Amino acid sequence: MGNFPKDDSIILLYDRESKKRHIINLKNIEKSYSTAKGTIDIEDIKTTEFGKVVKTHLGHEYILLPATLNDFIMKKLNRLTQIVYPKDAAYIAFRLDIKPGDTVIESGIGSGAMSAVFARILGERGRLISYEKREEFIKNALKNLKKFNLDSIVNVKQRDIEQGFDEREVDAVFIDVKEPWLYLKQAIEPLKCGKVIGILVPTTNQVSLVLKEMENLPLIDIDVSELMQRFWKTNPERLRPLDTMSAHTAFLIFARKVCY
Ligand SMILES: C[S@@+](CC[C@H](N)C(=O)[O-])C[C@H]1O[C@@H](n2cnc3c(N)ncnc32)[C@H](O)[C@@H]1O
Repeated sequence: MGNFPKDDSIILLYDRESKKRHIINLKNIEKSYSTAKGTIDIEDIKTTEFGKVVKTHLGHEYILLPATLNDFIMKKLNRLTQIVYPKDAAYIAFRLDIKPGDTVIESGIGSGAMSAVFARILGERGRLISYEKREEFIKNALKNLKKFNLDSIVNVKQRDIEQGFDEREVDAVFIDVKEPWLYLKQAIEPLKCGKVIGILVPTTNQVSLVLKEMENLPLIDIDVSELMQRFWKTNPERLRPLDTMSAHTAFLIFARKVCY
């Protein structure tokens, strides 16, 4: 048995010396993968168990690991827009209460970071409908999602959401656009009664405008939050936070639709 890569596994080759990471979808490799420190035969990768060492033809060692969605978003995703960072994305998915098989609407697709997290949770039985107005972002996001075998779960509609949404009775709606307050009325229409809408904005000015607009809509249980994550050095003798941190990513607003 053992935990070996499959034909379409996304693997991480980790260089212990330089800490450099190579993230590769095996279905895109024909015979071998080239690194600056030599070439690795694909058959050597497929016959090596995760967690063990593979060597290049020059003898350089890489640790073979399964790539995680976090590796993918932080290291492999081609960013043409701001993205939703993993710390926020995980919480957003949890607060929207999405589960395998659900139908979820998001806008816009941006670079596809949030879409990847939704698609991973929704799985083959679920559906993510992503509304995005700019073609170049759609192309890039779908390319990104394909790298992680998640593109088939996402149905993209090129549209300005000012024109509204086609679907009804969806399980969750997530809005990450510059002026979400302009589209909240349209955004809650497709949502099932009682379900949650999530909105992400980077500034407090935008939060105020969203909250003001929410007062006119059938929404209750409104909250605003931000999440802070501080990484620490891992030396057990000198345990302390890293010198720099990403101090702000976004404000998150959640509310539930009522129908009385
Ligand atoms: C910050 S990005 C979204 C990032 C994305 N959530 C991610 O994690 O990669 C905002 C996106 O919303 C799109 N957008 C802005 N206003 C829109 C509108 N009115 N209708 C559709 N898409 C819109 C932009 O083109 C852009 O791609």
